[in-house]
Amino acid sequence: VTPAADSAVEALFAAALAARQKAYAPYSNFLVGAAFRDEQGRIHAGCNVENAAFPQGACAETGAMTAMVLAGGTRITEALVLGWPRSADGAGGPLCTPCGGCRQRLREFASPDLRVHIADRAGLRATFSLAQLLPESFGPEHL
Ligand code: THU
Repeated sequence: VTPAADSAVEALFAAALAARQKAYAPYSNFLVGAAFRDEQGRIHAGCNVENAAFPQGACAETGAMTAMVLAGGTRITEALVLGWPRSADGAGGPLCTPCGGCRQRLREFASPDLRVHIADRAGLRATFSLAQLLPESFGPEHL
């Protein structure tokens, strides 16, 4: 599937690509964009925002999730992440899958069958379920 072949994915792709353009990543020079669809069909995007105190940097997924919560969204129903180095052409490199911490953050607002699309500049590269990315996970219902 390419983004052009699926208008729902295409909209996520466009939002994530635009968000990546805003990334603040002067230390890693690795620019990431994420876009999440919420239960109301709305799309929320985020970019990574780094910090001179390196551990204080935030991933693109975290920003998109904050935007969703601020807008009143409660569930992530589809996700797309894309990222590549500033100096790369952005096609055909390693898949930019969510980091472990962001997989757990997704877990808070999504079901195990959440589709997490990974794209690059050329379009969709792969789709995983959240259960694939974070098997046997711990979530709100455990508390
Ligand atoms: N990064 C993200 O924003 N999301 C990912 O899925 C992978 C990594 C960011 C964190 C840091 O700013 C840069 O990419 C390099 O790790």
